[in-house]
This record gives sequence, structure tokens and C-alpha cells, in this order.
Amino acid sequence: MNACIRAVVRTAIFRGVEVYGIQHGYEGMIEGNIKRMYSHSVSNIVQRGGTILKSARSVGFTTTEGRKLAYDSLKAHGIDGLIGIGGDGTFTGAKLFYEEFGIPTVGCPGTIDNDLYGTDYTIGFDTAVNTALEAIDKIRDTAAAHDRIFFVEVMGRDAGFIAVECGIGGGAEFVMIPESKTDLDEVVKSLRNLRKTKSSSIIVVAEGDEAGNAETIKEYVKNTLNDPKKDFKVTTLGHIQRGGNPTARDRVLASRCGMAAVEGLLAGQQFHLAGVVNNQVVYTPFADCIGKHKPLNPDHLKLIDILNI
Ligand code: F6P
Repeated sequence: MNACIRAVVRTAIFRGVEVYGIQHGYEGMIEGNIKRMYSHSVSNIVQRGGTILKSARSVGFTTTEGRKLAYDSLKAHGIDGLIGIGGDGTFTGAKLFYEEFGIPTVGCPGTIDNDLYGTDYTIGFDTAVNTALEAIDKIRDTAAAHDRIFFVEVMGRDAGFIAVECGIGGGAEFVMIPESKTDLDEVVKSLRNLRKTKSSSIIVVAEGDEAGNAETIKEYVKNTLNDPKKDFKVTTLGHIQRGGNPTARDRVLASRCGMAAVEGLLAGQQFHLAGVVNNQVVYTPFADCIGKHKPLNPDHLKLIDILNI
């Protein structure tokens, strides 16, 4: 997100527009926590994870009173257009805000989950996948050395994009994701067959899988497989996936989206997401991005099934 903030600030200044940073997202807008930003305000942040603006979810902005206070703060600073980095929640709020107060917002796609319409990839996804992958590579060494079955839980409350990419890149035997029903008995059956050719396995579980979390799934598989010689382990990667230095791909995507958001706002876009589709900047109305579930690439799921034999 920092690379995106940097691109927004510098593109605005390049275009002769005053730019302000709102701390703590919509909550800061309500409280008037707004500061002028300059080119030097975003120096030395392109390589840093997280966000210098500390944007976060806001309960206040879901109420009409909260949005009215936010509008008053913007007016007090002479702000007449917004750029928001986020996902569904951010853009749902922005759309309402435009309808009620006429303040336009152009959005940049910021979520590690990649589950956003209007862009092929979201800012943070590539970094999260690479962080998880590095961990999986290390776990694989122990799995192979001690003939273990490892269940690695990755983020993805509602979406399996991280799990699928890690599954392919990390050579997982199985990937369990919220988008498809997990048949644990089928997994047990396959693990029995795999025993003939493989002594260890990696199973990637998205945290939102409907069969449960990695611990619950491990217990079921362990009890059903009932092989006293096999050792089962769980690693939950958790929030390490949300931080760290962004990958080159993420920095470039964030910079492109940030610049595109400013250009879009100046060109009169009012409630659009600035994303990158087929390597081209594309503006998609929020209404077409929110509340939808971006489908996984079915070829990716097929790949996992074929490559795990
Ligand atoms: O934005 C969605 C997500 O990345 C989920 O995959 C994950 O469960 C969640 O964020 C974690 O968010 P928090 O740190 O706020 O609990």
C-alpha cells in the first residue's frame, strides 16, 4: 500500500494538485485526522510493507452521521475528491458517500486475498503468496526429512487465491479452499494411495475452508487414516503474510494503480476502481466490483490435481 500512496501523492503533485493524507482511513476522515502531503512525505516508503497512513476498518463510516462528519472534515480542508485503497468494504462506503454527498472516489485494489473484480491482481497478493511460499519450501525440508504430512494454513477467509498459488508453486499434494467443497474422505483415500510413491505430503488449507481450519482437518485425516507410523503436523502462517517488503510485481502494480487513480479522478471518474487487466489500466464502476466473488482460474485447480500424482 505504501508504494500506492507514494504514487498517488507524487502523481497529484506532478499534476499540480494539492494532496492530503487521511490517517486511519474513514475513521480519520470522521475525526478530521488529515494532513497535507508533499513529495518528501512519501520518501523511503516504496520498499516498506503496511501503510504509513494506518488505514483500517471503520464502524463510524457505516452510519449516516459518521459519513456527514467525514464530509464536514473534507470540506474544512477543501478536499473534493478521494482515492481509497482497499476492497469491498472501502468501495461500498465510497459509493454511499458519493451518493449522499457527491464526493467522488477512485479506488485502488488493496487486499492480499485477490478476490476483487476489476483487476487481475490486487496489491499485496503477490507479496503474501511469496512469503507463504518461502515458508512452505522450508516446511517441505522437515516434511521430507521425517516423512511427515504437513497441513499449512494460509490466509483467505473467503477466497482461495493465496492457497491455490501456493499450492502450485509449493508443489502441494492438496489445496483446500472456500470456493470448492472439500471431501476429506477422498483426501484420506488419495493419501493412502500416495503412500506407495511418496513418504511426505504438503496440504495447503485456506483459513476459510468450509471443512474447518488446518488443525480440525488434520485431526480428521489423522484419525481416519489411522496410520501410527505417520506423523501429522500443522503450521498456521497467519499474519506474516500481511507484512514484509513488497515484491517487485506488487510495487509496480501499486504504482500503476496509484497513478491511474489520480489520472482517473482528474478525468472525472466518480466511483471507479483503477485496476490492471491484461496488463492495461482499466476503470471499473464500484457497483461492478463489490459484493461479487471473483472466480478462480479453473486451469489452476486442474494443475494441482494433475501435478500431485
Ligand atoms: O482481507 C482479508 C484477510 O486478508 C483475510 O484473508 C484474513 O482473514 C483477514 O484479512 C485478516 O484480517 P485481520 O488482520 O483484520 O484479522
